[in-house]
Amino acid sequence: MSIPNPISIPTPHIAHLTEEDYEHVYEPAEDSFILLDALEIDAQLIRDDQPTVCVEVGSGSGIASTFLTQLIGHGSSLVLSTDINRYACEVTQRTAKANQITLNPIQCNLLGPLSARLKGKIDILLFNPPYVPTDLEELNDTQQLRDIGGAWAGGDNGMIITDIVLNQLPDLLSPTGKMYLVTIIQNKPLDIAQRMQSKGLLCKEIIRRRAGRELLSVLRISRK
Ligand SMILES: C[S@@+](CC[C@H](N)C(=O)[O-])C[C@H]1O[C@@H](n2cnc3c(N)ncnc32)[C@H](O)[C@@H]1O
Repeated sequence: MSIPNPISIPTPHIAHLTEEDYEHVYEPAEDSFILLDALEIDAQLIRDDQPTVCVEVGSGSGIASTFLTQLIGHGSSLVLSTDINRYACEVTQRTAKANQITLNPIQCNLLGPLSARLKGKIDILLFNPPYVPTDLEELNDTQQLRDIGGAWAGGDNGMIITDIVLNQLPDLLSPTGKMYLVTIIQNKPLDIAQRMQSKGLLCKEIIRRRAGRELLSVLRISRK
């Protein structure tokens, strides 16, 4: 019996990023890499659906948007990315260029001005959110500062920012749309799955991994 070869996509180059960049922008870490691994596991499914509109919220260094662009084939789909942090938008653009693709990140809060225009149109939505449980003051401060702290501070259960996107999700996804969401166990992924199911969406854990103190997983949320 032959075992099908999984599709293997090289990890984007990020050697151009400096320590100074990482003072302001999230440095790719285990949570970033598990998102790439989840996309790689689903690569055939994603390609078969021929996505036309893909969006990453909170692109940071741009590693995931770049990876997704390479996975689906540059030029065949629109890949949009946003980040609240202007340094992250600059760095995402540089990462794209260093990997011979083009990305034009939009600095805005979550989907910002795109939400209304992309209703029912998003085929792939990526979000590795600020998922660390913090108090509300830290969440509000970091969201206002729009700098590196905004990469992790997530408020109650680490879910305040993620929930804003999840509540919009049924309106955003196209008929074959899928969201890939990074979570840690403190975000209560089982609760997330139940809530998504109550909105008529399907939620499946694609991959789970322990990284130091974090138990990470990537959820795929899609229409049934
Ligand atoms: C954990 S980092 C992930 C970065 C990158 N996607 C990765 O996987 O390495 C979270 C990112 O979300 C961004 N972010 C936080 N709050 C946001 C908001 N309200 N709107 C857009 N981006 C936000 C942060 O600036 C940061 O770049």
